Amino acid sequence: MPLLDIDNLSAGYGSKTILDGLSLSAERGDVVSLIGPSGSGKSTLLRVLIGLTPPSAGTVNIGGDAINYADKAGLKALRRRMSIVFQQFNLFQNMSVLDNLTLAPVRTLGVARAEAEARARDLLANVGLADKAGSYPDQLSGGQQQRVAIARALAMQPEILLLDEVTSALDPERVGEVLETIRSLASTGITMLLVSHEMAFVREISTNVVMMDEGRVVEQGSPSAIFETPTQARTKSFMQAIIRH
Ligand SMILES: Nc1ncnc2c1ncn2[C@@H]1O[C@H](COP(=O)(O)OP(=O)(O)O)[C@@H](O)[C@H]1O
Ligand SMILES: [Mg+2]
Repeated sequence: MPLLDIDNLSAGYGSKTILDGLSLSAERGDVVSLIGPSGSGKSTLLRVLIGLTPPSAGTVNIGGDAINYADKAGLKALRRRMSIVFQQFNLFQNMSVLDNLTLAPVRTLGVARAEAEARARDLLANVGLADKAGSYPDQLSGGQQQRVAIARALAMQPEILLLDEVTSALDPERVGEVLETIRSLASTGITMLLVSHEMAFVREISTNVVMMDEGRVVEQGSPSAIFETPTQARTKSFMQAIIRH
């Protein structure tokens, strides 16, 4: 049974359909990258999965449990299973790094503060920021803030981590450190859904690459299949456009 099973998922904004009957699955430990043109619905898919945009049809199962996006208990249960990191890190600016990491586990999961702090310090060490626990976000570089945001997402002990263009807002020289953090995370066996413009990285790190267009999956396969021997015309034209670029 796949860890994540998305079946015939649709969603939109107002009367506009964005996700149009999308199906996708991931096994535990997979790194699934979503690629495709701007506007193809990659962010919308992640927003629906995490409960920020309601689906209009279809189902999402995690470990065989159907997620109920229509009620509060369903959304709360979801927070124990999936976390997301966005392009803009959205750290709480008025809180220390440590407090950023402990707030949700203490408030939402009911973890004891001492335990949440111990875990937060471990996570900060894992992202190379052990010495920044007492710092405030505005004392950190963009790359450091994004690594804190990743650690904060992991503090919820999610089964699935969603990453939406987490390096796109960074200075070029800060991109590498965040990619390195994601690379080391992937090796821990956490399941990830990744949207990134860093195509060399996507190719290196992914177990599966999913080509999306107009709210649907065009084609999916191993990185080498999608990047080197795509079968669909839309994937071929997308690959040619990125190579030329
Ligand atoms: N909050 C919103 N309200 C209305 N339309 C939106 C909103 N967010 C995204 N869209 C539209 O949904 C489509 C898919 O966007 P998005 O999921 O962000 O694509 P991608 O991440 O692949 O670039 C685009 O046409 C975009 O303009
Ligand atoms: Mg997007």
